[in-house]
Amino acid sequence: MKTQVCIIGGGPSGLLLSQLLHLQGIETVVLEKHSREYVLARIRAGVLEQGFAALMREAQCGERMDREGEIHHGFFIADGGRLQRVDLHRFSGGKSVVVYGQTELTRDLYEARDRMQGVVIHNVEDVQLHDLATDRPHVTYRAGDEIVRVDCEYVVGADGFHGVSRKSIPKDVLREYERVYPFGWLGVLSRTKPVSPELIYARHDRGFALCSLRSQVLSRYYIQVSLSDKVEDWPDNAFWAELKRRLPAEVGERLVTGPSIEKSIAPLRSFVAEPMRWGRLFLAGDAAHIVPPTGARGLNSAASDIHYLYHAMVAHYQKGDDSGLDGYSARALARVWKAQRFSWWMTTLLHTFPDAIAYERKLQETDLAYLFSSEAAQRSLAENYVGLPF
Ligand code: FAD
Ligand code: PHB
Repeated sequence: MKTQVCIIGGGPSGLLLSQLLHLQGIETVVLEKHSREYVLARIRAGVLEQGFAALMREAQCGERMDREGEIHHGFFIADGGRLQRVDLHRFSGGKSVVVYGQTELTRDLYEARDRMQGVVIHNVEDVQLHDLATDRPHVTYRAGDEIVRVDCEYVVGADGFHGVSRKSIPKDVLREYERVYPFGWLGVLSRTKPVSPELIYARHDRGFALCSLRSQVLSRYYIQVSLSDKVEDWPDNAFWAELKRRLPAEVGERLVTGPSIEKSIAPLRSFVAEPMRWGRLFLAGDAAHIVPPTGARGLNSAASDIHYLYHAMVAHYQKGDDSGLDGYSARALARVWKAQRFSWWMTTLLHTFPDAIAYERKLQETDLAYLFSSEAAQRSLAENYVGLPF
């Protein structure tokens, strides 16, 4: 098989890039390890920044997002009994975010790929990247007993944190920066009316909690749990009781509970790999960087990589201009590190760290008190949450 750009990973990063490039007449093949059903069963991000939404429209995939996604102008931070609103719209110069699930967005991207007869190959095994330091790279994978070879001009590693692409960069070139947090998030999806029309991020001595939503009839809630906890340790009634305890009483009283339709635990991690380009390989999204979900930056950071890579590839193929490809790693990383800083800050502000000393707990209290006493601090929060410019 032959193509111009071989994309590893059929998550949001890979599908979005493939769709954008196809619209510009650039050929791609997407190789995905799992079935489509498996990819679409993952419940992950829910908050999109405006830049992401604009990219979905440019990819001709924004119609359902614009119809069904909810525009949010603010969110709440709860601290024990207090509930304070962060006015994103006011403090970001009129910007907002779109609440639209990653599952729905991925479904829209798959449907667009089908409409355009884009090549997305599922259930590929043992993907390997070859000759990345030459101008004729190729990728191989196994389909049953057969080894298939894809010859290409560029390889994009959009295969998430556990993928193979990043591992194809030689160890003496790759630098990795990592922080692992001493807790995870237990997430529950339930067909219940959300407790609040806007998200609530709750700090509590028992641990962080988040009230989010997918629609007015579908709620998404998270609670901070210990790393040793298993989903089986948290039957629905225990989850609801713990969530309620961590919310201000007036909010907890309004909480509508019901059976969970999905329940999973995600560990929290900050991670960056540098460089994001090696030879003919470009990394994008979770393959190159991970943030704890507290600032809702993960998928949005993936989108900014795709924005830079898409424009760089179009300049290469349409104008013979390689400056975007050459500058990709530095440009993408500059924004990635700002998302890292913000996600680390929001995580530190709102979680209960098991080993925190009294001094650190005082600083956390003071950080929150400062946030709500300073318009400048709220402006900074809003600017980062709605997404820094690409
Ligand atoms: P992925 O979605 O991981 O996709 C990579 C794909 O590559 C997968 O389909 C995988 O099967 C495939 N793959 C892996 N290995 C191989 C291989 N060897 N060969 C071929 N294919 C392979 N982000 C936000 O912006 N806002 C939020 O509100 C938010 N909330 C989150 C909540 C939770 C609980 C979690 C876990 C994450 C959240 N995120 C959020 C982060 C967001 O989900 C990720 O950043 C996003 O999925 C990254 O997309 P991606 O396409 O780069 O990687
Ligand atoms: C979600 O709805 O899944 C969600 C929202 C905001 C976050 C993280 C996750 O910060």
